[in-house]
Parts: sequence; structure tokens; C-alpha cells
Amino acid sequence: MGQELRFDSQTVVVTGAGGGLGKAYALFFASRGANVVVNDLGGSFKGEGADTKAADVVVNEIKAAGGKAVANYDSVENGDKIIQTAIDNFGRIDVLINNAGILRDVSFKNIKDSDWDLVNAVHIKGAYKCARAAWTHFRKQKYGRVINTASAAGLFGSFGQTNYSAAKLAQVGFTETLAKEGAKYNIIANVIAPIAASRMTATVMPPDVLNNLKPEWVVPLVAVLVHPSNTHESGSIFEVGGGHIAKLRWERAKGLLLKADETYTPGAILKRWDEVNDFSEPEYPTGPADMVTKLEESLKIGRNDPGEEIRFD
Ligand code: NAI
Repeated sequence: MGQELRFDSQTVVVTGAGGGLGKAYALFFASRGANVVVNDLGGSFKGEGADTKAADVVVNEIKAAGGKAVANYDSVENGDKIIQTAIDNFGRIDVLINNAGILRDVSFKNIKDSDWDLVNAVHIKGAYKCARAAWTHFRKQKYGRVINTASAAGLFGSFGQTNYSAAKLAQVGFTETLAKEGAKYNIIANVIAPIAASRMTATVMPPDVLNNLKPEWVVPLVAVLVHPSNTHESGSIFEVGGGHIAKLRWERAKGLLLKADETYTPGAILKRWDEVNDFSEPEYPTGPADMVTKLEESLKIGRNDPGEEIRFD
């Protein structure tokens, strides 16, 4: 047997750690030697109410097993207080797992501002506030590890989840930029789109499927990504659940390059629409800079065939 990945003397903050995936992370990191801040507001999966019990139960379980943990009951919208709990109790923070989440599923036709605002507040503002407060410490100590939590609903869209999809895809852009800004300071940030049995998925998936989606099976990937031995995998998106782990990335079609002059008409695009969709020679962009090269190339090409536009009359 090889050596265990250990987290001795490190402090790990897990948001939404009172149940589901967050609880699985908290128990794991405590069992591998970390001090754990178990944050949970303790409300319903729709974000109603609050209860200290959710976090307390997990802290007690960790302590009973001989581990070190402290509870925090703040909403992630007040992430600075959660990070302060880590500093006050353990003197440092090494790992932040932004995991807390709620759902307010409703078709777009019926969505209310309150459904939109609360989902975005918990997921986007929550992840931001926790990361922002941790960032100061990470930079100072030239060490930090962040996991943000996206969702297939954000990556691909999902009926009845416009609010949640928007908030979840935001985690991707947020993570990609944190990774770029953190690189110089040994701060690594990755984003996962997990799938696991929890109260969130209990009503949307059949029991036999859920039996194969234990939250514990998302944990090993997260452990690999936030361990000090991971010095390069950053800014990446991973799908993970039920034993499946796969990286996702952006793919750009070879695309169409038109001369930007008066021949650059809707008809010129329609004539060569296949090229816009041609993925036979794909590119995998990782930053905005390469678009500039493309635009420079477009200056060099000849005039376009303006084609014929579709008539709508
Ligand atoms: P869960 O409902 O069991 O856990 C979420 C936890 O976050 C709860 O314990 C809840 O009390 C806590 N929480 C909610 N709002 C909070 C707030 N404002 N401040 C602090 N804590 C708060 O759900 P699950 O499935 O464990 O979800 C964990 C994360 O994974 C969420 O971000 C969710 O959106 C995401 N996710 C889960 C999937 C799944 O298949 N279970 C699929 C895709 C994403």
C-alpha cells in the first residue's frame, strides 16, 4: 500500500458541511489529520430557515472519532465570518471548499425575483465572500487550495433551473480567473460538477441510481486537487460521481474567418455556415488572448462572397 494523502496541521473550511457532499468532505479531511471548519446554515434545501444542529452533528461525529473540528453557522453570504472562525480556532486556513448550495427550481415563465436572487446570493456571492476572505491569507502564506462547485445544470442547462444554471456556470469563470490570479502565490483553484445522492437529488432520481452515487465517491478527487502535492492542476473543470471522473474543457470550432469590410454581410456568413460549426479541427482555448491573433489574420484575407440572404417576406 502506498502512503495516504494526509492533511495534518492544515485547516480546511467546508461550507454547507452539515449534510450531503459537504459532510462527506468534512469527515474525510478530519480523518486525514486536518482541522475542519464545519460551516452550515442549517436551512431547508430551498434556503428557508436556519438551525445550528446541522453543523453540530458533524462536528460531534468528527470529535467522537478523535478528529479536530469547529462549527460555524453563518450563511456563506457572510463568508468573512466563516474564514474568521478558521483563524480564531486554528490560526490559519489552507483549503476552502465552496460547497453550500440551495435550489429554487421553477420554470422560467414562473420565476420570481426572490427565486433568482436567493440562488445567486448563496452560490455566487457565497463563493465570492468565502474566497475573498481566504485570499488575503492565501497570498500572505503563499499557499491556498480552492474547490468551487458547479453542476451539469450550469454546464449544459436544465429545465426549470435558469437561476441555478446561471449561478453554477458562474463558478466556472470565477474559478478560471482565481486560478490565473493565484498561480503566482501557489494558490490552486478547481471547479467540480458533482453528482451524488443527497437531499437535493433524493426526489429527482430513482433509489437504485442513488445507491450508486454516494457522496463519499466525490471526495477522493477533491482530496487529490487540494493536496499540497497538486502543484499544476488548476483552473480545471471536472465531472465527478459514482466512480466516474472526467475533465471537461472548452472546444472551439475551426470557425469562419471573414474579411471585416463592407462585404461582411449576413449573407456572407450564411453562405459558409458549415465552417462556423466545423469541429473537425478543433482548438481548446484557455484564455482570451488568442482571439487577437485571429482578428489580425482577418485583416490579411481577401474580400468575402456576400452570398444571398434568406428572405423572410
Ligand atoms: P445538500 O442540500 O445536502 O447540502 C447543501 C448544504 O448547504 C446543506 O447542508 C445546507 O444547509 C447548506 N447551505 C445552504 N445554504 C447555505 C448558506 N447560505 N450558508 C451555509 N450553508 C448553506 O446538497 P448536496 O447535494 O450535498 O450539494 C452540495 C453542493 O453540490 C451544492 O453546491 C450543490 O448545488 C452541488 N451539486 C450537487 C449535485 C448532486 O448531485 N448532489 C449535483 C450538482 C451540484
